[in-house]
Amino acid sequence: MLKIDGLVLTVTDPDTGRETEILHGNSITLAAGEAIGLVGESGSGKSMTLKCILGIEPSGARVEGAIELDGTDMLAASGEELRRIRANDLALIAQNPHGTLNPVLPVGRYLVEGMSDARNMSRADARERAADLLRQVGIADTERVLNSYPHQLSGGMLQRVVIAGAISGDPKLLLADEPTTALDVTTQAEVVAILDEMRREHGLSMIFVTHDLDLAAAVCDRLAVMKDGEILEIGTPEDIRDRPKTEYTRALMAARPMLYPDGHPATAPSAAPGAGSDEEADA
Ligand SMILES: Nc1ncnc2c1ncn2[C@@H]1O[C@H](COP(=O)(O)OP(=O)(O)OP(=O)(O)O)[C@@H](O)[C@H]1O
Ligand SMILES: [Mg+2]
Repeated sequence: MLKIDGLVLTVTDPDTGRETEILHGNSITLAAGEAIGLVGESGSGKSMTLKCILGIEPSGARVEGAIELDGTDMLAASGEELRRIRANDLALIAQNPHGTLNPVLPVGRYLVEGMSDARNMSRADARERAADLLRQVGIADTERVLNSYPHQLSGGMLQRVVIAGAISGDPKLLLADEPTTALDVTTQAEVVAILDEMRREHGLSMIFVTHDLDLAAAVCDRLAVMKDGEILEIGTPEDIRDRPKTEYTRALMAARPMLYPDGHPATAPSAAPGAGSDEEADA
């Protein structure tokens, strides 16, 4: 469904005019319903890759190569077409839900307006669907949450609202950029489990950006290891664990000695005491 071929991103310093290549010819293909993790340290080019897919790279940047979403050449698409694709087919879940949600509106308005605009729904129907989506992401007291302002809710709660909003548009591809990094470990596990469950239930593809190999392995079919703007290798979590192709991947693995010792990420001992069991995270 998504085909990225030889993606090169070059930015130009507006003051000096000097060009810097940020992404060095990366290729990724993603099948419908598949989840791939982009894993790498800070500055490796994970977010920039997502920005290129969304067509929101920094102004003055040059994107070369090919990005094809369900047959549409994203790099040749008009602004109008890109806006339509962003609204209908893509959903971004960013690290900080406060950046996504409007601070002066109750979160219900965010969900309801999003849906009534995008899907031509009546307000009443949209509100009902918003409540339904909130229940799907594990929120029981939907009325209270719908009527709350972002500052009245916890980060984990807000990220659930953002996930509900992302799903509400029936996108094809979820782009999640460190969606749980800002949350504490327990909440992180819960929110990732919810994201995973929603993605599977709705049959969505996903690119999951993180610096956490364990987390990516838990929710992705394949992992792409990135360093300095380059994809070093792509493989299943098992490939990456058992047959790392590069020294860098080996080092990344060595930095995570607890990486699924029993062959499954859900069995890895929790890094934080009292972080709760994986069973709870799945509930
Ligand atoms: N607006 C910008 N203009 C020019 N260069 C940028 C810009 N934003 C980021 N960069 C550079 O692009 C490279 C990749 O950055 P990117 O944000 O994609 O990294 P990342 O892997 O997402 O890191 P992190 O884990 O910290 O979010 C970095 O070297 C960064 O300095
Ligand atoms: Mg980033």
